Amino acid sequence: MTYYFLTLFPEIFHTYFQSGMMGRGVENGIIEYKVINIRDFSGNKHNKVDDAPFGGGAGMVMAAPPIVNALKSIENYLDYPVIYLTPSGQQFKQNHSIGLAEEKGIVFICGHYEGIDQRVIDQYVTAEFSVGDYVLTGGELPALTMADCIARNIPDFLGNKESLEEESFESNLLEYPHYTRPREFEGAAVPDVLLSGHHKDIEAWRLTKAKEKTKNNRPDLYENYEKSLHKK
Ligand code: ADE
Repeated sequence: MTYYFLTLFPEIFHTYFQSGMMGRGVENGIIEYKVINIRDFSGNKHNKVDDAPFGGGAGMVMAAPPIVNALKSIENYLDYPVIYLTPSGQQFKQNHSIGLAEEKGIVFICGHYEGIDQRVIDQYVTAEFSVGDYVLTGGELPALTMADCIARNIPDFLGNKESLEEESFESNLLEYPHYTRPREFEGAAVPDVLLSGHHKDIEAWRLTKAKEKTKNNRPDLYENYEKSLHKK
């Protein structure tokens, strides 16, 4: 998988792809990333990439030509999904990441200011995604969020397969609580059942806790969970 990031802030990306699991993915050759500075395609000597919106209004709009020229600098860009990160996009979900993990490459367009010229979206973007109902200063963190989540669904990216299988969201239940040593911390003990060695009891306790947590934190998911039980 090759990730292509079209951005005005190329420096943001390198630390992320040199750290932790993403760093390991790059070292193992499972993922690679290329950062393309949209400003390199400004086509003017002041390196200007934005302009005032037609029709008036606050803020600046990123102009189409630099973005499209940056995109066209990617060999075979037509073979890849071109994703624009925007709070107006559809909400990115775990299921999207499973599908996108099968692509050979993905292009992310990271916007700033009031956004990008609509004609880029109409003519080149294949999907618009939001990472949540809040507004960030740019699309870089959302693009990294998506890239990270997608990488976890590429075969062999994760060391042990179980860490994918037992996860939240596919089951519509959030994860049960985890404990490790020490057995007592600031007066709080690890629940006895986890030390009992009774695997059936542990499983039942974890399911109860997962349900409690989902009901409290994500009533919307809990509703889906209950529906999925009726279907079985
Ligand atoms: N750009 C700014 N905010 C965003 C969000 N919530 N999701 C995706 N892109 C964004």
